[in-house]
Amino acid sequence: MMTISISPTLRDIRFNLPAHNVTHWHKDGMNVSQYLNTMSLFLPVGERFFIKSVRLFRKQVTDKALLKSMSAFIGQEAMHGREHDELNKLLEQSGTPAKAQEKIVERLLDFAQRVAPPEHQLAATISLEHLTGLLADSLLNNPDSLDGSDERYSAMWRWHAYEETEHKAVAFDVYQHVMGNNLNAYLLRCFWLVTATSIYFALQYPFYIENVRRQNGMRDVKGWIKGVNFLWGKPGLKRQCVGAWLDWFKPGFHPWDHDNRHHLEKFEELLKPVLNNDPEYQAADAAMS
Ligand SMILES: [Fe+2]
Ligand SMILES: [Fe+2]
Repeated sequence: MMTISISPTLRDIRFNLPAHNVTHWHKDGMNVSQYLNTMSLFLPVGERFFIKSVRLFRKQVTDKALLKSMSAFIGQEAMHGREHDELNKLLEQSGTPAKAQEKIVERLLDFAQRVAPPEHQLAATISLEHLTGLLADSLLNNPDSLDGSDERYSAMWRWHAYEETEHKAVAFDVYQHVMGNNLNAYLLRCFWLVTATSIYFALQYPFYIENVRRQNGMRDVKGWIKGVNFLWGKPGLKRQCVGAWLDWFKPGFHPWDHDNRHHLEKFEELLKPVLNNDPEYQAADAAMS
């Protein structure tokens, strides 16, 4: 099988998201905005967990290229955490119970770190990286899922999706390096994908519903239809992940079996409003301040 090796790049980009439209920045309205915002509540605490899990194995990795990728992975996740922390602060100010929901996730991950052996923590990390990698691919495959929304929020999600694609195999490569290619490694990662996906769904949907309720959206049938369509209908970002999610259970699976390197050629295009100080972006910025 062809081996694809991508070395991630550390980038320090700030998005300075506007506060006034934090609960309705998406073109489909509040419901879809709150869905994506709810996902953001999992990210800083989740990414800190990934960083710690990968760091646990630094001394066991001797391959220089992999060590370099691990450093870039850690740096990228730290930058994602910083920017999503900014978004989550805005959410708290908007009346979304961001801190309370983040705390629940944080407690759960702290508990996992206290009781789970390091290889279980790494297996949970690669499983969650599989989920983020698939969602990132879906988002990049469907540019119209963000087109027409607030440019800063869209740019931030596209940047995150881009870097998740770039580093999607790093933690997995660390796992293979330390665990080897054997039945135990396979069963452990299968167990954790099922467990991590179940826990994520069991928390995310109640949080999302509560965050829509806080914006008085429980009876907004059109809003719910848009939310369901966004995830499971058309474009159906989650629906499009199902097949690739199942590929994890193939014994020789590797994240780059899904070769989506073509997304990595689009950095300039994706981040144009931020990188080039697009006049439209600046005008919108000036109008906000
Ligand atoms: Fe990330
Ligand atoms: Fe990641």
